[in-house]
Amino acid sequence: MSIQRISTAAGIRITNLDSSRILFLSLTPLLLLFIAYHHGVVDPFLTFSHLKSLQPFSSTQLPPPPDTADRPPRIAICLVGGARRFELTGPSIVKNLLKEYPNADLFLHSPLDENAYKFFLLNEAPRIAGVRIFEPHRIEETQSRIRVLSSQNSPNGIQGLLQYFNLVEGCLSLISTYESRHNCTYDWIIRTRVDGFWTGPLDPSTFQPATYVIPPGSRFGGFNDRFGSGDRLASTAALSRLSLIPRLDASGYHNLNSESAFKAQLNISNLQVKEISLPFCVLSDRRYNFPPGRHGVPVVSMGSVRPLNGAKCRPCMTACCGECATKIMSGMVDGQSWTEGREWRKVGLELCNATGGWEEGWEEVFDRVAGEEAAAERRRVAAVERNGCEEEFEKMRQRTESWDAPPGEEICRLGLRKQ
Ligand SMILES: *[C@@H]1O[C@H](CO)[C@@H](O)[C@H](O)[C@H]1NC(C)=O
Ligand SMILES: *[C@@H]1O[C@H](CO)[C@@H](O)[C@H](O)[C@H]1NC(C)=O
Ligand SMILES: *[C@@H]1O[C@H](CO)[C@@H](O)[C@H](O)[C@H]1NC(C)=O
Repeated sequence: MSIQRISTAAGIRITNLDSSRILFLSLTPLLLLFIAYHHGVVDPFLTFSHLKSLQPFSSTQLPPPPDTADRPPRIAICLVGGARRFELTGPSIVKNLLKEYPNADLFLHSPLDENAYKFFLLNEAPRIAGVRIFEPHRIEETQSRIRVLSSQNSPNGIQGLLQYFNLVEGCLSLISTYESRHNCTYDWIIRTRVDGFWTGPLDPSTFQPATYVIPPGSRFGGFNDRFGSGDRLASTAALSRLSLIPRLDASGYHNLNSESAFKAQLNISNLQVKEISLPFCVLSDRRYNFPPGRHGVPVVSMGSVRPLNGAKCRPCMTACCGECATKIMSGMVDGQSWTEGREWRKVGLELCNATGGWEEGWEEVFDRVAGEEAAAERRRVAAVERNGCEEEFEKMRQRTESWDAPPGEEICRLGLRKQ
């Protein structure tokens, strides 16, 4: 298979229909337990608030979830998506998520393409539990999937949405497999994107029992689905993006985009949702109209004042800020929701003109905004040679219990074949 075919197909094909079916079956008892939990048959809140009053919140000491008073909470951090600009986002994820919660287990679910070699940076993670780098395959567009989903505004239509849902749900499968092998259950699951650029640590207030936590803004008629955090039950419902489609269909939900499907799925699972500000943006190569229309997508400069709550961003020269940015954002359906009522002018938002590709000289913009440490990592990836890449992959494979990926030589060759 040529590189071209893999890269254009990245995000357009599937592999694990079977695992999602198994997941759906295993979901039923969990949902029953969830109902019990909501009706107070199992009451985690008493224990929780009791513990919380004894132990202050701090980033090193999370509130232990129910019945875990005698052990530290188990956290899974799941990274999904393609590695396109991972030389820029990876170090920010390692620093602000993985090193911030050094006992958390990392899971990676990503399509194989010519950028996957950049994942060697994850060798800096304190713990890696599971890695799955797969060749994407086409996902069947069943009648219920066609009814429930809409191809509008999705760059690769319904297939693109299904690929994305599969990426997310695949993470849950990785985690479940690991749990059954270890006879343990994670207390918390954090789901985040490979292309997220983090400018500050993940705050412990993100961990909320019996609630699914998402960032504000980018709702597009539903809920922001660029990050999510919840306990095990909430995460099961939130991450089962493919397998819940038949239930959405049965509940009469049709013609949904990713965000509205996400909202519908949390609704039928009876999940409480809380929006919490988060210091990351999604680094994007995509081009968008500028200025964005009422339903458009604003692209913000990485240098904007934070938090950016998962807005699309790039390293750009500011095209519009102050009153100009306020005017554009207030004309947008979703425009005020990012800042929770504060005006964009005061927040210091800077918008990019993203009608073209990244500007010449973006590297300097990035280095200035991200700092010397991140700049050094960027240069390290740009300079890496094939054998250095292979060595890092080999080290990573040896310390990863569940490794389901092509050999490092193949991953490194795909990306560094010019050498
Ligand atoms: C798994 O854990 C449960 C409860 O902690 C225990 O009863 C059971 O024996 C364990 N099974 C294995 C195979 O370790
Ligand atoms: C689900 O949607 C219905 C109808 O919009 C609403 O009344 C209900 O409160 C929602 N449930 C949750 C848990 O958000
Ligand atoms: C945005 O950039 C394009 C070139 O990429 C330019 O043609 C266009 O005029 C710019 N738009 C605005 C509103 O500045």
